[in-house]
Amino acid sequence: MNDIYSAVKVTDNVYWVGAIDWTIRDFHGYTTPRGSTYNAYLVMADDITLIDTVKAPFMSEMLTRIKSVVDPSKIKYIISNHSEMDHSGCLPEVIDLIKPQKVFASATGVKTLKELFHNQHEITPVKDGETLSLGNMKLTFMETRMIHWPDSMFTYLAKDEFLFSQDAFGMHLATLERFADEIPAATLEYEGATYYANIVLPYSPIVLKALEKVAASGLKIKIIAPDHGPIWRKDLGWIIELYKKWASQKPAAKAVVVYATMWHSTEKMARAISESLAQEGVKVKLLSMNETHRSEVVYEVLDSGALIVGSPTLNNNILPQMADVMTYLKGLKPVNLIGAAFGSYGWSGESVKHLETMLKEMKVEIVAESVAVKNTPGDNVLEKCHEMGKTIAAELLKRTAVN
Ligand SMILES: Cc1cc2nc3c(=O)[nH]c(=O)nc-3n(C[C@H](O)[C@H](O)[C@H](O)COP(=O)(O)O)c2cc1C
Repeated sequence: MNDIYSAVKVTDNVYWVGAIDWTIRDFHGYTTPRGSTYNAYLVMADDITLIDTVKAPFMSEMLTRIKSVVDPSKIKYIISNHSEMDHSGCLPEVIDLIKPQKVFASATGVKTLKELFHNQHEITPVKDGETLSLGNMKLTFMETRMIHWPDSMFTYLAKDEFLFSQDAFGMHLATLERFADEIPAATLEYEGATYYANIVLPYSPIVLKALEKVAASGLKIKIIAPDHGPIWRKDLGWIIELYKKWASQKPAAKAVVVYATMWHSTEKMARAISESLAQEGVKVKLLSMNETHRSEVVYEVLDSGALIVGSPTLNNNILPQMADVMTYLKGLKPVNLIGAAFGSYGWSGESVKHLETMLKEMKVEIVAESVAVKNTPGDNVLEKCHEMGKTIAAELLKRTAVN
């Protein structure tokens, strides 16, 4: 039944020949409830070129889509824009199968592909700004180191004003619609922001520089074709502006209250803090880690100005659900956050101190006194929680007013 798959024409010279992964639900700890796609593109130049490949188990889907346009053995070049295995997993097998004349990657990409596959395939390094003639058209390579791996690069096809942007501008969204303009804007914004927050966020300063570099290059871009999710062919300014917004992480008058609880004392505190923040005019997202996935928390933090975290003490430490999300958040390096910690305990009460230390390590500025309570919070403690909310709201509103 392989021939159910066919290529999708994107422009006169470029076809989408990727694969749709309807069932994947986890990408290295980032939950993907709507699946994903691994996008590969076929450039039908004099010298036929394949841009990126797909995750290993999806090779036959990709090859079948290619066959609907051309005999794969006619492919002369393969470009690897990003060596992560969801785009290179089947590359060694594809090279053996179709025997392209040359395979290109950035210098770091060449090293990474060797380290990943330990095979004898020769891969030619290309430099930033270097071009490759495909006969009747030409490709230009643009290094985009650390967006989001050291090997990452963009490839530009001037003839079709087409930017192959690997993981940038991508999202995990399995659809049969291949173009962003066929998908509701709210879905694109949510999945795009979730992808950005969970994958690209730590490299935001580099993203801003890359956006400037592309703008300064004067390259005309009609199509942005990422390695996951839909292709952008209309109103490119919309997604570019969103990228600028996400990358600049200007704090908004929004607070995320994240907690976990065993017997609901910490939860009562979280509720009191949240109600108080809302009463002061701050938008609040209250997330219980007993039920929420870490990916959702990072999505909510992306446009927030405050992060307030709570945990009861468990064995002189914090609850594992909180350790999970704090570790994940720390790695993603959100910036411009203020915050505080809270929690309940039974006897030794270390959790709040642990949370404070973690917030400081994440460079979250602690602007309100933490609240810790032995066993359940009474009215006086709930009043302290209320005060915490008020203090954080006042600080947040002050900071966002000048932004
Ligand atoms: C398995 C277990 C281990 C605990 N370990 C500690 C501890 O090391 N130190 C402490 O102060 N309290 C400890 N506690 C007590 C809880 O922190 C306390 O019951 C707290 O009020 C629970 O808050 P919660 O209702 O938000 O879950 C422990 C409780 C349980 C169930």
